[in-house]
Amino acid sequence: MNIVVIIPTYNEVENIGRMLDALVGEEFPKIKKHLMKVLVVDDNSPDGTAKVVQQKMKKYKQIELLLGKKNGLGAAFARGMKYAMDKMEADAVIEMDADFQHDPQDVKRLVQGFDDGYDYVIGSRYIKGGSIPEQWEFYRKFISWGGNFFARAALMIIKIHDVTSGFKLTRVKGLLDQIDLDNLLSRSYAYKIHILYEVIKERNAKVLEVPIKFHFREKGSSKIEKEDLKESFTVVIKLFLRSRFFKFAIIGFVGFLINSVFLEIFSSLSIFDKFSSSFSYLKGTKFHAVGESTAWAAAAATEMAIISNFIFNNSWTFAKEKITSPIKLAWKFLQFNLTSIGAIVIQFIVIGSAVGVFGDTTLVRQTALVGAVVFLIIPYNYTMYNVIIWKRWRIPGLGWIQDVSVYDNIKNKRR
Ligand code: GDD
Ligand code: MN
Repeated sequence: MNIVVIIPTYNEVENIGRMLDALVGEEFPKIKKHLMKVLVVDDNSPDGTAKVVQQKMKKYKQIELLLGKKNGLGAAFARGMKYAMDKMEADAVIEMDADFQHDPQDVKRLVQGFDDGYDYVIGSRYIKGGSIPEQWEFYRKFISWGGNFFARAALMIIKIHDVTSGFKLTRVKGLLDQIDLDNLLSRSYAYKIHILYEVIKERNAKVLEVPIKFHFREKGSSKIEKEDLKESFTVVIKLFLRSRFFKFAIIGFVGFLINSVFLEIFSSLSIFDKFSSSFSYLKGTKFHAVGESTAWAAAAATEMAIISNFIFNNSWTFAKEKITSPIKLAWKFLQFNLTSIGAIVIQFIVIGSAVGVFGDTTLVRQTALVGAVVFLIIPYNYTMYNVIIWKRWRIPGLGWIQDVSVYDNIKNKRR
């Protein structure tokens, strides 16, 4: 297989020569199974980085150089990735920095993950065995850790511990070649978060995290700016707004509105009076609600919301898993109704217990309702949809294989 290590450079004259020697001279010979190449993507660095690369190209035939205008790190990588796929027949690419913060000796460990069948191998700083530079001041560590945590939480990528790492291997076939590199949300550092989102959330990639020590930069300086931090924040927000969870939340809110509107409409319809009157003999018994027309109107209004939730989640949130055949649709709709009963049971228990403990007041009822919805019903519904209805998540032990697995310790053992 052809594996291309892509190294973007901007003013890395003090690093790139040593880096190419370390990679091509020392590390590539250790990787016998593959044809290893390097692609340096230099944005016409004024310090003469490209000249050093050209000298090394005379020494090693595995090096290629791509020159271009400076448009940011993401633009450089997009250009490099397309070139590696189109012109260098890459089967996998490795994203790597020139400044020795990524250890050339770790390249073979990423390649090992590829050999073990993984599509996406992340050099991870935030798992056991990984680290960030000790020399960094507290605020730098905090920004790195905080940014990573924020992105993980907002995008619900809990299983991956390092989502901003710049050192990783990506399989080309079926993964990188499916991603629209011309329309990434960032031309700068945040492109990494976008690609990671595409890989983890949109495609069935097998993911491995390999611990790496992210070294201190000894030569030259970081090109990251305050603007890049702000941009990363907006990219995460934009990705969140595209996410399934956000769509699910909007549809849930619309369902709630439908529920309230139909409750008013139905309670004014005489058809429910007729219906409930056949149970009027229950008035005065424990089951008097069954004889109330409004109870039937409420149930019908809830069913309207359930129908709306089902239709819109099927065609929007889970568009990729969309159910179309009429028989399957009927069966899934039945399942959907059955899982919706869970939400009723949750409310029954939570509001029932809250009222029992704190007394039956509007404040207690409404607080319990909001608590039940936010902490239990939303996670419950989202899980049911993903696990049972549209089957996006595969829960181990329930007979399915996980589609995104994290294999993260030093021995690369499966967790
Ligand atoms: N061609 C090109 N164009 N290369 C660039 C550009 C650019 O606009 N900006 C940066 N580079 C090159 C640098 O020359 C270096 O080889 C590599 O990209 C990484 O740049 P640094 O400026 O050293 O990045 P960093 O150390 O601050 O950030 C690293 O860690 C982050 C996580 O903490 C990178 O790996 C980030 O991608 C990563 O998110
Ligand atoms: Mn760096």
